[in-house]
Amino acid sequence: MMKLSKVALAMAVVVSAGALHAGEVEVLHYWTSGGEAKSVAELKKIMQAKGHVWKDFAVAGGGGDNAATVLKSRVVSGNPPAAAQIKGPAIQEWAAEGVLANLDSVAKAEKWDSLLPKAVADGMKYKGSYVAVPVNVHRVNWIWANPEVLKKAGVAGMPKTFPEFFAAADKIKAAGLIAVAHGGQNWQDFTTFESVVLGVGGAKFYSDALVRLDPKALNSPTMKTSLETFRKIKGYTDAASAGRDWNLTTAMVMQGKAGFQFMGDWAKGEFLAAGKVPGKDFLCAAAPGTATAYTYNIDSFAMFKLKSADAQKAQGDLAAAIMGTEFQEIFNLNKGSIPVRLNMNLDKFDDCAKQSAKDFVTTSKTGSLVPSIAHGMAVSPAAEGAIKDAVSQFWNDDKISVDAAMKNIASAAQTK
Ligand code: BGC
Repeated sequence: MMKLSKVALAMAVVVSAGALHAGEVEVLHYWTSGGEAKSVAELKKIMQAKGHVWKDFAVAGGGGDNAATVLKSRVVSGNPPAAAQIKGPAIQEWAAEGVLANLDSVAKAEKWDSLLPKAVADGMKYKGSYVAVPVNVHRVNWIWANPEVLKKAGVAGMPKTFPEFFAAADKIKAAGLIAVAHGGQNWQDFTTFESVVLGVGGAKFYSDALVRLDPKALNSPTMKTSLETFRKIKGYTDAASAGRDWNLTTAMVMQGKAGFQFMGDWAKGEFLAAGKVPGKDFLCAAAPGTATAYTYNIDSFAMFKLKSADAQKAQGDLAAAIMGTEFQEIFNLNKGSIPVRLNMNLDKFDDCAKQSAKDFVTTSKTGSLVPSIAHGMAVSPAAEGAIKDAVSQFWNDDKISVDAAMKNIASAAQTK
């Protein structure tokens, strides 16, 4: 009986929404891990409740490189999805191609300018018009840990500096466990690298080197120390790390096989999806040396120009839903990030998220809120790709000297 009435209710929703000209909304994303899939399912639910048909276009591959390739071929063949997970400077590049839709009418109706930090809103606009809509704020400079592993190894707490980190890692190794869970894929190497640069050099150096790509900073003693520190971390990873997905890497920490993981807070989404409790089953802390800085990574959807009126209506509804309080709360609770919409109530969020929200505000005032290069926020996709490759080559090949890596990175930074 119960079942039947639910079906009837669902049908009524579909029928009444049908009268509003429901449209199909095809959404390209790369949220395929446990925590990610749970998060995006919430958006699907909201769109279906509005009577629209959700066409899922998921392209597996953490960090989104695979998705970006697939997107290009779809747009080139004149068949773009309604929305695609695109962020940072790539939004501007796509807009310059003339393929993105103008979202100003929904932005105006929903008052986006007053609901977003100005810098975030500016990044969603091309020539003053909204072409994309932001989902969340991820912090990248985190280190995650399994408290049981730390206890077994006799590590007192989360390391605040790199000397503390290496001392802790030595103890975990001595206890016969993997000190650092690492997934050997270039974007994961790059994620660890940017946190090391931030921890070793501070926010000003990070900005000079990895945002402004200043040759002086890229060829400096501080960059040298960063590369040495980065290489040292490799000695604490396991031999089977090559090619491992990031979520399987997080699982190693979850299962008590490894002590630490350097990863953005989408890792928290994985812990939570597995029923783990922050502060009890896993710990979060700013990566060593980075407590007063914040590398941000803002997920967003750029919307493509569509022909049919129904599809445009569905696309507008999607944009409005993404900025709505219901989605901003439920999605971010699952995803590990914090809402990007201002003045949201964070009561339901955990301490890692509250820390992130507090540090986001503080660092935006002190000038140490910096864009993540590894996650598409800081430089052009071309320069990012080239630097990412140079960093990974260094990570994977112990024969490349620190000096040679420094030169390779500096020359990759000139890629246009
Ligand atoms: C995205 C996250 C995603 C992660 C792993 C990052 O670049 O911003 O949303 O969870 O990659 O796929």
